[in-house]
Amino acid sequence: MKVADKNKKGRILSGMRPTGRLHFGNYTGALENWVKLQKEYENFHLVADWHVLTTNYENTRNIANDTIDMVIDWIGAGIDPEESPMFIQSKIKEHAELHLIFSMLVTLNRLERNPTVKEQIKELHLEEKVSYGHLGYPVLQAADILIYKANLVPVGEDQKPHVEITREIARRFNNLHGEVFPIPEVKLTEFSRLPGTDGKRMSKSLGNIILLTDEPAEIERKIMSAITDPQKIKLGDPGRPEICVVYTYHSKFNTEERDEIAADCRSGALGCVECKKRLSKKLIDFMEPFRENRAYFLEHLDEIKDILLQGEKRAREIAVKTMNDVHKTMNLG
Ligand code: TRP
Repeated sequence: MKVADKNKKGRILSGMRPTGRLHFGNYTGALENWVKLQKEYENFHLVADWHVLTTNYENTRNIANDTIDMVIDWIGAGIDPEESPMFIQSKIKEHAELHLIFSMLVTLNRLERNPTVKEQIKELHLEEKVSYGHLGYPVLQAADILIYKANLVPVGEDQKPHVEITREIARRFNNLHGEVFPIPEVKLTEFSRLPGTDGKRMSKSLGNIILLTDEPAEIERKIMSAITDPQKIKLGDPGRPEICVVYTYHSKFNTEERDEIAADCRSGALGCVECKKRLSKKLIDFMEPFRENRAYFLEHLDEIKDILLQGEKRAREIAVKTMNDVHKTMNLG
């Protein structure tokens, strides 16, 4: 069993709420970085099922299936279960204990100022009925990160305010009780907020996503209906790639052709239909391994369960040790 690995630069902890099959935004926002960094760092990845309850406590029916679907896509992206343990947050009860301890170290006022939680409250119209647990979302996240003494947290832009609170809590704990926790750094990707096909933030609830495991015909249909520069109506009209969603996707997934596409769009030589066809082809090729991986695991679901169980064992070992450190420095128990 692997514990702190001396050949690595440090430890990563990152996770996602189980939302089922993943989309491109999830990939470019965080997952891609997890894969890139897994050789350099010791990676731990958690399925944040308790975090789902903060906004969805009435309906928990899909959590188990969504967990499996999400983990299949993590593996499809290249997360190697041998190298990088993946596990379910609610299986490691120590997170809940550390969350409770941390909840004393942060003021309500500080939590109310968190822009990501604020945005969520507004989007879901929860102004008058935000729960105690929901406000504490970043406190639970701090427990997730710090219980593994992580040094680096690769996440999307929206998660930055949470990691900032994690850093404050770690400093405060260390000052009060003694050095237990490293102060973790955030790591963002270049395409941290990939737009959806309608130009807004890519999000399941907005119906503007492309799944990593969409079928080719589905990908093509979505790309063909994506918005482009509204001033470019027909072939020959000059376009503005910098405001075009289709070009944003080219610049991420079609790096060899992107300069040529930008120039031909601007001159008017390249029409939107042709430009979209070229993009669809690229995306379909790019996503082939995700579709194959999913087809395999749908026939071998036991392997996913086993991966999560192995991950859980490795995670628990570290979480229990950290809690011993916490108990000792705080003279608890
Ligand atoms: N809040 C993250 C999200 O919405 C999920 C998450 C929970 C997380 N705990 C974490 C991310 C710890 C990074 C580190 O996707």
